Amino acid sequence: MDKIILAIESSCDETSAAVVKNGREVLSNVISSQIATHKQYGGVVPEIASRQHIEAIDWVIDKALEDAKIKKEDIDAIAVTYGPGLVGALLVGLSEAKALAFALNKPLIPVHHIEGHIAANYIQNKEWKPPFICEVISGGHTHLVHIKDYNEFEILGHTRDDAAGEAYDKVARVLGLTYPGGPQIEKISKNGDKDAIKFPRVLLENDSYDFSFSGLKSAVLNYVNKAQMKGEEIKKEDVAASFQQAVVDVLVEKAIKACKDLNIKKLALAGGVSANSHLRSEMEKACLKEGIELCVPDLVLCTDNAAMIGAAAYYEYLNGNVADMSLNAYPSLKLGER
Ligand code: KG4
Ligand code: ZN
Repeated sequence: MDKIILAIESSCDETSAAVVKNGREVLSNVISSQIATHKQYGGVVPEIASRQHIEAIDWVIDKALEDAKIKKEDIDAIAVTYGPGLVGALLVGLSEAKALAFALNKPLIPVHHIEGHIAANYIQNKEWKPPFICEVISGGHTHLVHIKDYNEFEILGHTRDDAAGEAYDKVARVLGLTYPGGPQIEKISKNGDKDAIKFPRVLLENDSYDFSFSGLKSAVLNYVNKAQMKGEEIKKEDVAASFQQAVVDVLVEKAIKACKDLNIKKLALAGGVSANSHLRSEMEKACLKEGIELCVPDLVLCTDNAAMIGAAAYYEYLNGNVADMSLNAYPSLKLGER
């Protein structure tokens, strides 16, 4: 029997609702972005994010139902991101989802935000199934995960300091680029020399799947500050391209190492940074060389959206993971934790 899920996502600065059929077919995916507002502050302001979610949530849900040509009553379950994320932001989506589930008397499915990012791959490739390795690279997280089954995750490694997206955003800020920095760095890098400056590639211990991007970030900041102090002109495009190459080298090397070590010939990318075209092409090359099948979601499925939450929710629902009205928001929820 078909299962139609209405999914809600509000963990950071995107208010989104989607209708997803059987975890794989997106009937609608409405995203209201707050980027224009947060841009003027150079990053997400949590209090403003919460308020904007409140303003957007109702029309976003109505539009998702309208686009999917479906009535509330015909939904089988309501899914919502309950962590990790900004607590005030999460609570807006969560309260709305609980109210809908209660009023419509439908099951409420709690979804982990990162599990959602991973599940974007099930929408992208209808045949994509566990087991596989997934590199989750977003503004708040950098994880290398072994997806053993739809609901079974082993975290192989994660960042010990900054997330990859965070490093992009901070480097962008020092180069005078606007928030979010990732797309801006990607854009100006196209006119830069990736070999101009030798920034460090931090790989940590030989057997480690962990990441560390703060040393790289500091190296870039030092380079820029030193040049400024000496009154030297820097070529922003070269700094951006050299920084990006250092990030991409580490992301490619760690992901391929995990696939080889675990002898798993399937790799997926997830999260905002996987929208990066240079990373996508370098990862493709490396996978081709190693005989690894690569799945990368379309751009709209890489950054925050509710369709990915609907995909993850389907497999949670099949697994019997349904919440009651006491469900709370968990800002630091760990993957695989309930
Ligand atoms: O997954 P996401 O939308 O939100 C989180 O869950 O964090 O990721 C946002 C992050 C930001 O740091 C942004 O700069 C980065 O993803 N990002 C990119 C690109 N597009 C977004 N980084 C590099 N290249 C891009 N094209
Ligand atoms: Zn995200």
